[in-house]
Amino acid sequence: MADYILEMKNIVKEFSGIRALDNVNLKIERGEIHALCGENGAGKSTLMNVLSGLYPFGSYSGEIIYEGDVAQFKKLKDSEEKGIVIIHQELALSPYLSIKENLFLGNEQAKRGIIDWNLTEKKTENLLKTVGLRVNPNTLVSQIGVGHQQLVEIAKAFAKNVQLLILDEPTAALNEEESENLLELMREFKKQGITSIIISHKLNEIVDISDKITILRDGKTIETLEKEDISEDRIIRGRVGRDLTNRYPERKANIGDVYFEVKDWNVHHPIDSNRVVNKNLNLTIRRGEIIGIAGLMGAGRTEFAMSVFGRSYGSQITGKVYKDGQEISVKDVPTAIKNGLAYVSEDRKSLGVNLIMDVRENTTLASLEKVSK
Ligand SMILES: Nc1ncnc2c1ncn2[C@@H]1O[C@H](COP(=O)(O)OP(=O)(O)O)[C@@H](O)[C@H]1O
Ligand SMILES: [Mg+2]
Repeated sequence: MADYILEMKNIVKEFSGIRALDNVNLKIERGEIHALCGENGAGKSTLMNVLSGLYPFGSYSGEIIYEGDVAQFKKLKDSEEKGIVIIHQELALSPYLSIKENLFLGNEQAKRGIIDWNLTEKKTENLLKTVGLRVNPNTLVSQIGVGHQQLVEIAKAFAKNVQLLILDEPTAALNEEESENLLELMREFKKQGITSIIISHKLNEIVDISDKITILRDGKTIETLEKEDISEDRIIRGRVGRDLTNRYPERKANIGDVYFEVKDWNVHHPIDSNRVVNKNLNLTIRRGEIIGIAGLMGAGRTEFAMSVFGRSYGSQITGKVYKDGQEISVKDVPTAIKNGLAYVSEDRKSLGVNLIMDVRENTTLASLEKVSK
């Protein structure tokens, strides 16, 4: 008989009358890697938040059985004490603290109210070894890339004695090599008997790593696929509710004349101004076109977009920008916006939105003159 570490039964969760979870069922076997799939808004993160106690017992209906007992978590700490750790889609480390300070934040290694930094550092070194991260424990989190930050989050989970590790879109911001390393790490954890739930949109990695897959759609459980039934087509069918005969249907684009041009664009690093980030870049876009900018991490794609968007990145920027054949100024962000540019950042949390303002204020922030006198 299968040994289930977790069963979530008939979970219903509503947000002011809207059903985000509608009788969801999920069964996780001990030691497996179980993927949760579904379109954006299907309810994956909400389900995990219910599990963790972030949405406390009483704010949902249904039953959670964890390690054979009924679980009624009232806060995150309750589930963490039982070894359930969630690593969220948006990383939650403190950028201006060091790795070791982050790892034991809220879990300080202290005696009689005094933090034992030597012990903290020693424990950090061991935890970093567990996740294969070779950096100094005293490095500030802001100085390491997202891939490494992800590993620090996972190390933090291990500082809490994790039994059930939940990763909510862990590879969304990682490049291929970093993603592959992370998946390898998950396989390693599995050997150590740790159970994992992974939420991801990347079908190839889900197919590759999962023992089982549960598909959610519109807050409902559609099905759980066993290893032998897992395939990309099957997942897509479950996610959208019909067969996709043509995953990339042909589209007729209405391409017009040259509309937007960037010529001889040069950008240097904002602090280390000797470092060239973009060198003599040229780009021509026609009306109605969608242009993809490809390249490895660090190739300068974001830096290019941000520097064109009102010099919001870089130093010693030179080059010209044209719209409809006329040179336009992008000397600062207000001017770029006035000239019709908009930029949706890759880092929504720190560059995209103002988190302490509401949706209405955020959406109108860049165009106040349209809504006020
Ligand atoms: N705090 C919230 N308040 C209101 N609605 C929410 C909240 N969190 C999620 N929802 C809604 O619940 C549904 C499921 O969201 P979510 O669990 O984030 O989906 P997923 O993680 O699968 O993309 C969505 O319709 C979303 O808009
Ligand atoms: Mg989500």
